[in-house]
Amino acid sequence: MKVVKKISLMQKTVDKLRCEGKSIGFVATMGALHKGHIELIRKAKKENDIVVVSIFVNPLQFGPKEDYKKYPRPITKDLKICRDEKVDFVFYPSAEEMYPYRENLTYVEVSKLQYILCGKYRPGHFRGVATVVVKLFNIIKPHKAYFGEKDYQQLKIIQQIVKDLNFDTEIVPVATLREESGLACSSRNSYLSSSEYKVANSLYKSLLYCKDLILKKKWNIKKCIKKSKEYLSTLLSEIKHKIQYFEIYDTNLNIVNDDISKISPKTELRIFVAVFIGSTRLIDNIGFKI
Ligand code: PAF
Repeated sequence: MKVVKKISLMQKTVDKLRCEGKSIGFVATMGALHKGHIELIRKAKKENDIVVVSIFVNPLQFGPKEDYKKYPRPITKDLKICRDEKVDFVFYPSAEEMYPYRENLTYVEVSKLQYILCGKYRPGHFRGVATVVVKLFNIIKPHKAYFGEKDYQQLKIIQQIVKDLNFDTEIVPVATLREESGLACSSRNSYLSSSEYKVANSLYKSLLYCKDLILKKKWNIKKCIKKSKEYLSTLLSEIKHKIQYFEIYDTNLNIVNDDISKISPKTELRIFVAVFIGSTRLIDNIGFKI
């Protein structure tokens, strides 16, 4: 496995591999690799000749009050995981390499999609994600890139960019990997205290609860959301928490009719939740057909 820190070398390397007819699979990460990332890497290994993993904590996608500085950076452990998974290249640039001082004037924005859900509460976040992903695609030039459904809005934004800007890269969505308790795997789970960790699967429980209300009670969407938020608050009552949002969209992030009887059958719905557990912000979502 080679660790590449320079953009020009990474580009030269992938150009050569492409000329040799090799297919390139790409997993973009901010490090602090967990089982969810490993799942992405394994899928990429199965489907491509060469796998590139990027490890870059992207300053552009963190708000001024967010956890950029404290974001975990266990690079030795991350490289070991990549080595064990037989990754071919780790692209591990510095912030200066990716954003030379005062030189970055171009940003990628995806209107509509970047303003809802997390975008409403994290202004600039998806602009940061979109910009770095486009940069990474131009550096790695992957045939296929793998993104987890845990960050469903991110996945949809990246799919939109690829379509709108004609990137020759296939985006492969990968189902959310969960702990046995149902808690979605996330690098931020490492911030949780043991008492917080014990109840962190409440997000997932509340999503399943909401799905059940929709499918079995067939109440309107607003009522299902209200009841699910109450249920979630009860599950988290022992712990300091704040529900940031609990919302339902269709699979393409369009607003759905509040009256379930008016939603056409076979529509796929997605329920989204974001909660602060203590000072840790966790998100989760599930999809299902009505
Ligand atoms: O999902 C992430 O870890 C990041 O948002 C990504 C896609 C690597 C961009 O920095």
